[in-house]
Amino acid sequence: MIHIQKKMLLAFSVSAVIGLGVAPSAALADGAALAKKYNCLVCHSVDKKRVGPAYKAVAARYEGDPSAVADLVEKIKKGGKGAWGSVPMPPNKKVTDEVATTILDWVLGLNTGTVVAANVPD
Ligand code: HEC
Repeated sequence: MIHIQKKMLLAFSVSAVIGLGVAPSAALADGAALAKKYNCLVCHSVDKKRVGPAYKAVAARYEGDPSAVADLVEKIKKGGKGAWGSVPMPPNKKVTDEVATTILDWVLGLNTGTVVAANVPD
């Protein structure tokens, strides 16, 4: 029950950000910057498979999945394997729910045409 409520809360906070009309480009740039800051881009890139899947592939897989953010927040924090192959993602222990959600806003938006690879920090 607690688990379900947490999912709903996360889903709500994401839609609240969109609903309030917070400048999307600023939030998305934050997501890209946070992905770099937390070393996600060591294993992931926007377009190409590296150690982990390309973020565009992640965006395509979870398009229209309302529980994707909540599930992926947990996966990012705790790590895991099996969704893309046998190589595991290690836990990202410094990543908070807020950081993971912001990164996911960016990642899951990569298929909509609103974000381009150029938004990835060098
Ligand atoms: C050491 C390499 C490595 C790092 C660092 C890393 N990842 Fe991953 N990531 C992976 C691998 C490998 C997978 C595929 C896991 C699987 O097959 O289930 C993955 C999968 C994912 C997925 C898809 C999960 C799913 O179940 O579909 C997301 C989203 C993701 N990573 C985000 C992140 C974020 C955000 C960070 C930074 C906080 C990060 N990763 C850091 C290696 C990494």
